[in-house]
Amino acid sequence: MAKQPEGFGPWPQPAPRFFEDAAPAVLHVPDDVQKDWNKKVGRRYIKQILFKTIPTWLWSRRNPGVVPVDDARFCEILCDGIFSKFLTPQSLFDPPDDALFGDYLDGTKGPGLGDGAGWFKSDFTPMRLVPSDSDSATAPSVVLFKRGQDLSYELVAIAVHDQVFDSSHGGAWTRAKYFALQGAGVLTTLLMHPKLHFPSNSVDAITRSRLPASSTLSKFLRPHFRLALAVNYAVLYGSQTVLKPGRLYSPYPGTQKEHDEIVATLWRGFKHPDGTPNRAFPPYTLQLDPPVIHSPYGDFLGHYHRTLLGFTRKVTEEIAATPSDAVSHWADYCARWLPGFPDGSQVYDAELLARALTSILLDVAVSHSADHFIYGNVNEREVPFRLHTELPSLDRQDEPNLETMVTSGDNFNYRMCTLMFFRPYVIERLADIDYGFDTPQLRDANAGLRTDLIALQSMLDSQRVPIYVPLDGIASSVQF
Ligand SMILES: [Fe+2]
Repeated sequence: MAKQPEGFGPWPQPAPRFFEDAAPAVLHVPDDVQKDWNKKVGRRYIKQILFKTIPTWLWSRRNPGVVPVDDARFCEILCDGIFSKFLTPQSLFDPPDDALFGDYLDGTKGPGLGDGAGWFKSDFTPMRLVPSDSDSATAPSVVLFKRGQDLSYELVAIAVHDQVFDSSHGGAWTRAKYFALQGAGVLTTLLMHPKLHFPSNSVDAITRSRLPASSTLSKFLRPHFRLALAVNYAVLYGSQTVLKPGRLYSPYPGTQKEHDEIVATLWRGFKHPDGTPNRAFPPYTLQLDPPVIHSPYGDFLGHYHRTLLGFTRKVTEEIAATPSDAVSHWADYCARWLPGFPDGSQVYDAELLARALTSILLDVAVSHSADHFIYGNVNEREVPFRLHTELPSLDRQDEPNLETMVTSGDNFNYRMCTLMFFRPYVIERLADIDYGFDTPQLRDANAGLRTDLIALQSMLDSQRVPIYVPLDGIASSVQF
C-alpha cells in the first residue's frame, strides 16, 4: 500500500485496471485505520491460521464431497436469506430468459402458473466470467422458480448454458442443481455481498478528507466507516487476499483476474451473451428506498431501514438548517464518485439526504452484518465453490458421485475461508453507537436510536418476524 503524502487525506480514484468499469478505489488507507485493522482484524487472521488449520483439515478429511440437496432444500437455501437477493420477478425477465424457459412459462412443460402465482428467476450467468479450467468445472446457470399465492417458492427448471433441465432429467438434474448452487455461492460472495462493501468507499474517503472531524456529518458517518477502508483494501488489493488462488483459505474456482471481473460486475452491471443488458444486474446506483428482496429477508431489512431513517432525518434536518461551503463541496464530490448521491444543489433537501445516508448506513451496518451472519452458517457441502464433475447434459442421466464432486482440499479451503472471512466478528456494535454529537437535540436523537433499536428487536421477536441477525450481532460498520 502506498504511503499517503503528508497533509493529504484519502481520496477515491478510478479502479486500477478497470477505470470507470468498477467501483472507485481508495488506495491510501489512513494510518489510524490501518493500525486499527492490524490490531483488530489482522491479528485475528494470524491466530485463526495458527489454531484452526489442523482442526479444519481433520474436519475436511472426515467430511468428503457434498451432501444431498433435494428440491425442497434447494428452495430453502436459495429462496430466503442472503441468496434470495438474486430472486428476480418475471417483469424483469429479458428476451433470452423467455427463450430459455418458454416451454415452462407457457405451461407446455412443468407445473404451469395458477391464480396468484408468479415466475421468478435466480440468475447466476455472471459465472461466465470464471470459465471451467483444468482444475474444476463451472457453468453459468439460471434457475426458474414459481412463487405461489402463499409466497412459497417451487423449483421448476434450471438452465445450464443453453440446456434446460427439470426433475425428469435424473442425474443431469442433480448436476444442474449443484452448478446452480455453485453460482449462488460464488456470486453471492464476490458480487452481491460486495455491493455493501465497496461503493461507499468514496464517501468514506471524501468525508475524512473534506469535512472537519468536528462537523455533524463527519460525526454521523465516521462510526459507520470504522475499519472499512482497510478491510476493503485487503480484499481487493492486499497481497494475501482471499481472491488469490493458492492460499489456505482460497476457496474459489478460477484466477484472481476472473474474480476481479466478477467483483467489477457489481458496478458496471452485466449483459446477456447477445450483448443486451441483463436487467437482473443493472449498473450500480445508490438506492434511496429500502432494498427490494423477494423474501422475508427483505421485510427484516425494511424494518431496520424505517428505524434508521427516523433517526437519520433528525441529523439531516440539522444539516439542512446550517448550510456551509464544506458540506456543499462534500456533496458535489460524493455525487461525482457515487451515482445517485445528492450533489451540492440537493444536499440541503433533508429528506433526500436522509434517504441517501440511510441506504449507506443500512448497507454497511445491518445488511452487511446480516449477510455475514447468514453466510457464516451456510453448509459448505450444500453450496460448493469448486466442482469436479461433468456439466449436466440432456444425453446423460447417470447420478454423479457426491463424494468426489468436491475434494477434501476444496472443503478445507472453503471452511477456512468461512471461519476467517465469512463468519462475523463484531468489534463495535450498532446498538452501542455513540456519535459524540455536540447539540443536546442530536445527543437525544442518538439515545433515541439506541432505544428504538432495542424496541425494534422486541417487536420483531413478539411478531415472530424472522430475525436474520440479532441486534447484538450487528456491527456499526464493515469490520469483517
Ligand atoms: Fe463483508
